[in-house]
Amino acid sequence: MCFPQIILNAFKQQKQVHLKSSQADLVTETDLRVETILKSAIRDKYPVHRFIGEESVAAGECVELTDSPTWIIDPIDGTANFVHRFPFVAISIAFTVNKQVKAPMEFGIVYSCVEDKLFYAQKGRGAFLNGEPLNASGQEGGITCEPDSDDDDEVRWQGLSGLCCIPDDMLCVCFSVRALGTAAVDMCQVATGGADAYYHIGMHCWDIAASSIIVQEAGGVVMDTDGSPFDMMSRRVIAASSTAVANRISQVIQAFPCRRDDED
Ligand code: IPD
Repeated sequence: MCFPQIILNAFKQQKQVHLKSSQADLVTETDLRVETILKSAIRDKYPVHRFIGEESVAAGECVELTDSPTWIIDPIDGTANFVHRFPFVAISIAFTVNKQVKAPMEFGIVYSCVEDKLFYAQKGRGAFLNGEPLNASGQEGGITCEPDSDDDDEVRWQGLSGLCCIPDDMLCVCFSVRALGTAAVDMCQVATGGADAYYHIGMHCWDIAASSIIVQEAGGVVMDTDGSPFDMMSRRVIAASSTAVANRISQVIQAFPCRRDDED
């Protein structure tokens, strides 16, 4: 059985759920199974390539980006959605070489399983959804964000109660705020032009590595929430339809400190 089908079959069933770092940080047998299948299929073909995989890191592996070709994998982005049968769950796979923390990945793939939408992009070759080219909007009317999240339940609660911080002058043009519960798919909405911006603090590199190149190749921009260049290990991201929109959001975001993904 192919791995998207494994996720779809399990989506409808009762699951064994385990907590990782917090109430919101969940893992199921399907997350583990899909990551194992993916890694072993890639390893068969490319035995010397390295991996940063969400569940392998949770099991104790270090997040270490080296010059070697590296696959960054989230087997199910939106595990809480998956557990609660909220129909946005994605497989996110990015590939990078030469320690490109700040530059685009070589390529990225986000497959939104229930929607059957395959987003992908390769450096310099554009971004696509099910074969159709993607273009960011260049506008500023719709924002996706996930409430700031962190391993610490109290910080997460503050994020939920504050929900979103949209610049006042953008509120008048902003038609709405959406949160799909998967950073990867949220960010891909910016690439489609369906959303004009996305911001998030507290997610991890495997949640956003693939979608970062999809946004960039669709003509959008990614940056750190403090306005500095995108850094996939910083656990902070703004994706936007233009640099102007990203800059405006970066000026009002209330950041909280997050331990970097690659910190020892
Ligand atoms: C989570 C999702 C969610 C975001 C969390 C992530 P996971 O990823 O991307 O949208 O708010 O910060 O951890 O744990 O389901 O792979």
